[in-house]
Amino acid sequence: VPSVFSDLVRYIAISDDDLALLRALEPRLAPFFPDVAERFYAALWSDPKAAAVLAGPEQVERLRRTLIDWMSTGLLGPLDDRFYEKRSRIGRRHVQIGLPHHYMFGAMSVVRTAYQERIHTLYPPDEAARVVIAVNKLIDLELAIMVHHYQLDSEEKLIARERRMQAERISAMQTMTAGLAHEVRNPLNAAKLQLELLDRRLRRESNDPRLTDPSELAQQEISRLTDLVNDFLAFARPPELQLGDHDVAVTVQKVAELERPSATAKEVELVTQLPSTPVVVRCDAAKLHQILDNLVRNAIEAAPPRGTVRVELASNEHTFTLRIVDNGPGIAEEHQARIYEPFYTTKSMGTGLGMSIVHSLVALHGGTIELDSRPGTTRFHVTLPRRQ
Ligand code: HEM
Repeated sequence: VPSVFSDLVRYIAISDDDLALLRALEPRLAPFFPDVAERFYAALWSDPKAAAVLAGPEQVERLRRTLIDWMSTGLLGPLDDRFYEKRSRIGRRHVQIGLPHHYMFGAMSVVRTAYQERIHTLYPPDEAARVVIAVNKLIDLELAIMVHHYQLDSEEKLIARERRMQAERISAMQTMTAGLAHEVRNPLNAAKLQLELLDRRLRRESNDPRLTDPSELAQQEISRLTDLVNDFLAFARPPELQLGDHDVAVTVQKVAELERPSATAKEVELVTQLPSTPVVVRCDAAKLHQILDNLVRNAIEAAPPRGTVRVELASNEHTFTLRIVDNGPGIAEEHQARIYEPFYTTKSMGTGLGMSIVHSLVALHGGTIELDSRPGTTRFHVTLPRRQ
């Protein structure tokens, strides 16, 4: 049973006595259920905004039947997994149809009043008082579950909106970066060619290091700029995927071998956790390698001396997930939303393109990357479809 549900049951303090009273009430109230349903729908129809949610008489007939079942199962219980599951479905349905949540309170009040009126005719006054208390607890529980689903929905919407905004921001930057890289690339290539020409002529004429050293340095700088422009382009316009069938576990092992020396140098333990059988997926193996290598390298950098970096691989029928976990200080909240933006970096060295390229390559595979970080544990989850 989800903890919200058990928390509610505990908080409302529905006792075994309450439950017994409700169970005994069910057969006595059952003959009046159709009448309660009638009042419920009369109240709906009389409110134009509530009535607007209803599609037509067929739906109302279906609702009348489900409402009667709802009344019966609520009183009979038990308040177990299945009960919560059923109530969750109702809650989700109301959210789906766009029913404003304040209607729940009004509708529940109609049910509560109808029950109470009947209870007073069915029981002697002192017993009626106890039954009414039990009914109130049940109705409040039902109401809380309904409202809880509105909250879940708005949380999901908030997360989805943040994701969308992030994707839009990154896409705008991709456009800008592509334009910039494109404009820089041609003059840079031309400068590189001319400089090579000049260098060759220079060396033919003289071997004076006062002339050749600056030329060599200039060429090194141009070569660095070329790498940078290529990184810009890899982020802005990732090349097409070269798809093939690959065992992801092999990629994990290769990256681990590649990064082990730098882990060892920092006395960081690099641990891989792989399934016992191959995880063959359709992907671009070189790009997958690039994604993982970037994340593992960052994790090793983030881990404290003698810390640990774990790379875990898990899969199901449709997707596989790579989890890269380090026990470093964590990524501050204000950085988390921006780490995929190009040029955004918290390191003194570094272009701030590594994570942007990772994000781009993951998106190109139709996957998602999620971060969950607090002091002492940072986890990146990369989930990709097994088939492109
Ligand atoms: C006491 C509050 C309410 C209860 C107990 C209740 C109960 C239910 C139940 C049991 C279902 C069926 C869910 C399923 O299994 O698919 C449902 C769906 C629905 N409810 Fe409610 N409801 C309540 C309030 C309202 C209100 C105020 C409206 C306003 C118009 C409303 C409109 C609907 C509609 C349109 C559906 C979808 C029916 C369909 O499947 O086509 N409900 N509700």
